[in-house]
Amino acid sequence: MSNQNTNTYRILSDMVDSLTDSDIRKIAGLINKKINQGEKIFNLTIGDYNPKVFPIPQEFTKEVYNAYLEGHTNYPPIVGEAELRKTLSKFILERENLEYSPDEFLVGGGGRPLIFTYFISCVNPDETVVFPVPSWNNNYYAHIVKAKMVIIETRPEENFMPMAELIKPFIKDASIIAMCSPLNPTGTVLQKENLTNLCNLILEENTRRKKINVKPVYLMYDQIYWLLTYKNYKHYNPVEINPEMRKYTLFVDGMSKYFAGTGIRVGWGFGDDEVITKMKALFSHMGAFPPKPEQIAASRYLANKEWVDSYINNFKEEVSKRLFKFYDGFMNLKSKGYKVNAIEPQAAIYLTVQFDLIGMKKPDGKIIESTEDITAYLLDEAKVGLVPFSAFGSLNNPTWYRLSVGTCTLDEVSEILYNLESCLSKLT
Ligand SMILES: Cc1ncc(COP(=O)(O)O)c(C=O)c1O
Repeated sequence: MSNQNTNTYRILSDMVDSLTDSDIRKIAGLINKKINQGEKIFNLTIGDYNPKVFPIPQEFTKEVYNAYLEGHTNYPPIVGEAELRKTLSKFILERENLEYSPDEFLVGGGGRPLIFTYFISCVNPDETVVFPVPSWNNNYYAHIVKAKMVIIETRPEENFMPMAELIKPFIKDASIIAMCSPLNPTGTVLQKENLTNLCNLILEENTRRKKINVKPVYLMYDQIYWLLTYKNYKHYNPVEINPEMRKYTLFVDGMSKYFAGTGIRVGWGFGDDEVITKMKALFSHMGAFPPKPEQIAASRYLANKEWVDSYINNFKEEVSKRLFKFYDGFMNLKSKGYKVNAIEPQAAIYLTVQFDLIGMKKPDGKIIESTEDITAYLLDEAKVGLVPFSAFGSLNNPTWYRLSVGTCTLDEVSEILYNLESCLSKLT
């Protein structure tokens, strides 16, 4: 009550009062305003899908319906339906060669409750969280647990993936290292050698800590896009690389991204029994679990290899056609002398693109001076909404952007490239 009469008077906890909404949502808000005013905008900002372009698997929908008709409407177990956890255990064994028992899973309402649980479970206030940028939302989770943040800036030369050497100086103080591969926002993957080096760093540090009786550093490994890799790019996981990492790896996964199911809210996490068991009580009090009919449907759907393979094959094909069409388009613009660039698509639903436009003059005579100016120019002139990497915490890469293909048709790709060329050609 001591600050009641000052300007800093707060009605909620300091943490919540100072927690801000995601910058991506703010940009999406601006775009929606334009759309509501009747403008035709190509909104490539959101890590979401247009269900008319990318519907969820039909068989899953039918199973949800069946589960309701069968009357599965009472509480599911707090950690997730037993059948679903059994199915998930088989799913990752068959597809990732990972051995985790059903008891080593937590089923949540999407991936977010798992991330939340891991941060709260591993990090005391004032302890250190290490994460690379650009990356998705780690800053907000670090804020929630009142952690110190060590932010690792990455570079286009390494496809915006953090090299283990950059993390090394900070590992001694870290409680959690938050990694994501395939990475949102870049659509790139961690290379095997780099992940191996990171695992070695963590194992070495935890050997040191064990001797002095200090709690270990954990690797949160968010692989929520992992079934979407293209060409020869492969998804690696830390435990496959080094089985000793089992004790220290906390996986995030779910149906949101590779089944276009962002709205169905079925996610899961898994990790070593010792740590997952301790997280169960926290998880139970959060109660952030998916509806029981969805859990039953997810179990029936994921257990059917044919359904899953056929959906994923088609989905990957459709997403990658768009990503490569955009990529080829950007390379074509680059070859014509426009100041753009892109990184070849590796995974997920994102393309990393650059508009190196700072210092150029717009048709109105004004100079483009900042990321905000680039974003606004693309939106106003090309009617294209993109998210700058600054919205993912990166300050060193002011001209790089995430382009998401989850809402666009193949025909629209041509239209968008045409608009971009026309708006770039007006700059001098
Ligand atoms: C990297 C990453 N992890 C986790 C999530 C959260 O997924 P969910 O919608 O299942 O909560 C997202 C969502 O955008 C994401 O991009």
